[in-house]
Amino acid sequence: MPILSPNIHFSEKLTGKVDTSVIFVYDDKKLSKIAAAADKTFGGLIAHQLENHTKFNADAGQTLTLALPAKSDTLRVIIVGLGKKEKLTSEGLETIGGKMLGALVAQGAVKVGILNADDVDAASLSSIILGVQLGSYRFDEFKTVKKDKDAVQLKTITIVTSEDKQLAKDSKIVDALAQSISLTRDLVNTPPNVLYPESFASKIKSTLTPLGVTVQIFDDKQLTKMKMGCLMAVGQASEHLPRLVVMSWPGTSAAKGTKKKADKPLAFVGKGITFDTGGLNVKPFEGMLDMKMDMGGAATVVGLMSMLAKRKCKVPVVAVVALAENAISDEATRPSDIVTSYSGKTVEILNTDAEGRLVLADALTYVQEKYDPKLIIDLATLTGAIMVALGLNHCGAFVNDSDLWTQLETASGQTGEKLWRMPLDDSFRREMDSPFADIKNIGNGRMGGSCTAAAFLGEFIDKDRKWAHLDIAGVAMSKSTPTCPVPFASGFGVKLLNQFVEKFYG
Ligand code: BES
Ligand code: ZN
Ligand code: ZN
Repeated sequence: MPILSPNIHFSEKLTGKVDTSVIFVYDDKKLSKIAAAADKTFGGLIAHQLENHTKFNADAGQTLTLALPAKSDTLRVIIVGLGKKEKLTSEGLETIGGKMLGALVAQGAVKVGILNADDVDAASLSSIILGVQLGSYRFDEFKTVKKDKDAVQLKTITIVTSEDKQLAKDSKIVDALAQSISLTRDLVNTPPNVLYPESFASKIKSTLTPLGVTVQIFDDKQLTKMKMGCLMAVGQASEHLPRLVVMSWPGTSAAKGTKKKADKPLAFVGKGITFDTGGLNVKPFEGMLDMKMDMGGAATVVGLMSMLAKRKCKVPVVAVVALAENAISDEATRPSDIVTSYSGKTVEILNTDAEGRLVLADALTYVQEKYDPKLIIDLATLTGAIMVALGLNHCGAFVNDSDLWTQLETASGQTGEKLWRMPLDDSFRREMDSPFADIKNIGNGRMGGSCTAAAFLGEFIDKDRKWAHLDIAGVAMSKSTPTCPVPFASGFGVKLLNQFVEKFYG
């Protein structure tokens, strides 16, 4: 995994030498006991700076590096601002962790001691550590000169805390989360000549099988036989034909060997278009540039399954990803082709660029028919329109059940991955009435494009089935930030949905 994570451990006391000490201060700039004790050995340098520095306000994530006098054991101390205590959120703490990492790397720190001693509680420290881990994400697989790997010397971070045992336990979960988010980022960042339906499917199998997830791959021949007409129509023009991958996690609370009926699983479904040219309705130059990310929904689902398995989620979970390349050739689907979906409903494909809803339709029908799930959440980089509506920080959530929405909203509040509820309404469905088939794959014009896309998916959801559709087109990518230094895949949704499952299902 291309992640440069320093070794992080916890200890009640700092033993051994460090080249860099870190202390945290809230915006009252008061030194904690342990920092004050250390400052004595530095001759009061820290207190003096905190009092007289004209720019350091201890804002959240602000850092101040002080060189220590020649005789000190330590080369430098880095003061990390935490801002206002009452304003700290898990997301804010992650950013602080990422910024602290930036300061450590900039100084060439190798061995670091964080003099915390419980000024910052265990949960907050865990968020800071997650920020450090996410901030150390790199993607240099395709670089022949591994610049970062050579440049970053940071080896160990020891955190001084009396909650060392609790934190050592929590940090296993933090590690699992960082690795699972990195897995999602890796999948999305990988170029489409390397990651295509069959290679994506094999990668899922080789990554998740060792974690105890059962992975089943359906190839194009099986999909044709199964009559997955929508998925095949989208992928038929590519030399890399479609795959449907089913991942099942049994849950740890399943009463083994007893006759107790197994719980219905939770289901996750992901759009996995490994490259979206638009098909014969070809995308313009700018529109096509980022389209290797069009498998972001599937990548998030895979990262989530990794996390659920790593933390040994109690309940059974099934995930389905529909993988296809929306390419152009003489075999490409034409605008006005009519295909029969796996559900049996016929679809008039009027725009080959509205392909995500087609592959999802078959995957959604499949997961309901085979698994009768308790609820379904699908994730998809489905529409450009969701970015017009919500921008790049809010994920559009279309939910047909108010309890499910409340649960998602709660998880969103706790993780900082923002959701905004969008309308599901029959009027959007009616726009897609077709004179020739049961439904057409686009509405009338551009208005409410994300809502017609969601309504199309709704057509393939059983009556009374709890369902949420998350349009992640705006949030799957990120500019470079302290916790997402490689400017492309964000890994949005892994943390949010893991929190959702853990909090409400186990
Ligand atoms: N993959 C795109 C949506 C997308 C656009 C994701 C930009 C991320 C960034 C999707 O397949 C698509 O092309 N949707 C069309 C639908 C339209 C033809 C009804 C769109 O949004 O323009
Ligand atoms: Zn498209
Ligand atoms: Zn697409």
